[in-house]
Amino acid sequence: MQEAGYEVVIIDDLSNSELFVLDRITEITGTKPEFHQIDLKDENLVNEFFKSNKIEGVIHFAAHKAVGESVQKPLMYHKNNLMGLLNVLEAMKENEIDHFIFSSSCTVYGQADKMPIDENAPIKKAESPYAKTKQMGEEILEDFVAAFDKNVISLRYFNPVGAHPSALIGELPKGVPNNLVPFVTQTAAGIREFLSVFGSDYPTRDGTAIRDYIYVCDLADAHVKALTRLIQKENKSNLEVFNLGTGIGSTVLEVVKSFEKVNDLKLNYKLVDRRAGDIIEAFADNSKAEKELGWKPETPLEESMRTAWEWQKGLS
Ligand code: UFG
Repeated sequence: MQEAGYEVVIIDDLSNSELFVLDRITEITGTKPEFHQIDLKDENLVNEFFKSNKIEGVIHFAAHKAVGESVQKPLMYHKNNLMGLLNVLEAMKENEIDHFIFSSSCTVYGQADKMPIDENAPIKKAESPYAKTKQMGEEILEDFVAAFDKNVISLRYFNPVGAHPSALIGELPKGVPNNLVPFVTQTAAGIREFLSVFGSDYPTRDGTAIRDYIYVCDLADAHVKALTRLIQKENKSNLEVFNLGTGIGSTVLEVVKSFEKVNDLKLNYKLVDRRAGDIIEAFADNSKAEKELGWKPETPLEESMRTAWEWQKGLS
């Protein structure tokens, strides 16, 4: 956003992030973003923030985001993801802020019947509490735009992966990683003994689950385009949704192989049981984002795997 000329203010509770990121962003962009440590569940603090800052638009990333963990801790997921959202929307209403970008997820489709998944695919039963929070989030937004004449774009991410090409910013989950790629890089670095590949009996080409791994910097570009679209009033309805994926499905083993090949190393892994809450397959039809947002992912999986490893190496 900063590179696109926006002045950025970050709110984060630091529950799954690190303050040093601010210096890294400064190194990359030449500007240090303003930062406020606020837990979005604290309604008063959130409202206070929006009252005392002139904000033109909100990009709401903040949420717990691990499918498996959400099955174990559903209340934590509902509380954090929905209260946070509600408090931000309330503050937007109170302080007359019009533009909102929502980090949604392809998990809102449940196990879709048809691949690739386009935005008209039915919203089926969610397979995990995490997915439910994203479905409910979108429903809340539907009511929000209708009642208060606000403009929202919901971006349904497929699986974001990789790190900034500078290797200065990337994924650093606290504790044991839940997501595939940080687990892969930590295994390669010797922090984890082996990667558990969850499920090898799925009806796919090699028995492991299929996802659409989208490079994080490509994903970031879509946010710039989405917010700009709202600010320039180019949106076609008050609530638009876009799938953000590459259109290519990769199995877990293909991700492992790509990582091994591009980084010239061997990864320890074991095939284990399926993980609760997982779907078999999801990859995007991203043609609506291309047509409407002028967004097209540019980066192949190998490059994501290379940058993810560069970032991991830089941590040790
Ligand atoms: N997997 C493993 N071993 C691991 C971790 C994951 O085999 O240690 C497998 C999973 O079973 C799944 C695939 O790798 O088949 C991807 O799993 P992730 O946990 O990385 O990602 P998910 O598809 O479960 O969900 C992710 C994010 C969500 C996001 C969703 C789609 O966690 O935040 O993609 O947007 F919403």
